[in-house]
Amino acid sequence: MKFFIDTANLAQIKEAQDLGILDGVTTNPSLMAKEGITGNENILNHYKAICDIVDDNVSAEVIATDYENIVKEGEALAALNPKIVVKVPMIKDGLKAIKYFRKKGIRTNCTLVFSSGQALLAAKAGANYVSPFLGRLDDISTEGLQLIEDIRLIFDNYGFETEILAASIRGPLHIVNCAKIGADVITAPLAAITALLKHPLTDSGLATFLADHAKANQ
Ligand code: E4P
Repeated sequence: MKFFIDTANLAQIKEAQDLGILDGVTTNPSLMAKEGITGNENILNHYKAICDIVDDNVSAEVIATDYENIVKEGEALAALNPKIVVKVPMIKDGLKAIKYFRKKGIRTNCTLVFSSGQALLAAKAGANYVSPFLGRLDDISTEGLQLIEDIRLIFDNYGFETEILAASIRGPLHIVNCAKIGADVITAPLAAITALLKHPLTDSGLATFLADHAKANQ
């Protein structure tokens, strides 16, 4: 399973990269705004800076919502660095643009997916990644994990190569449950990823080992 970090914060991306388990980054306009990155030039430079940190898979989201401008914006983003994956919303013009990008060899991540029907369309259009938003479904008392299970079944039934990128992850259990049901990728905040490290028995066991070693070697 691939691990992406869901942030535009360069320090956090660097920290996750240094852990040695990072496969990519997802950003979105809200995450860019949160970091105070505004204006076209700054936004493009920020994507370049992210690409300098990680090995591959930097999802950069288009702002346009009509076909011509999604294509124009996506091509400009893809030209920044071969690591860029153009993030396109699940709307009619987005779907058409995904088909276009596939023909041009530009990788895409279809975002804002909340149903298996939407995921099926994205896969048929040739998206490299489809992003079901687990946490946002859970937030409205809907089973986010069930959606990922359904998409897994559908993609396996037909051998779609589109990867299921479980997004809107809220914590470590979401990550483990996504792994159990066969999501190809998770994208999560740094805190959810590092929370996987923690177990109280690891901490107490290590404290005992170190104390015993110190006592025996004093
Ligand atoms: C996906 O790529 C999105 O950036 C993200 O996972 C959305 O998560 P949120 O629901 O926590 O905003």
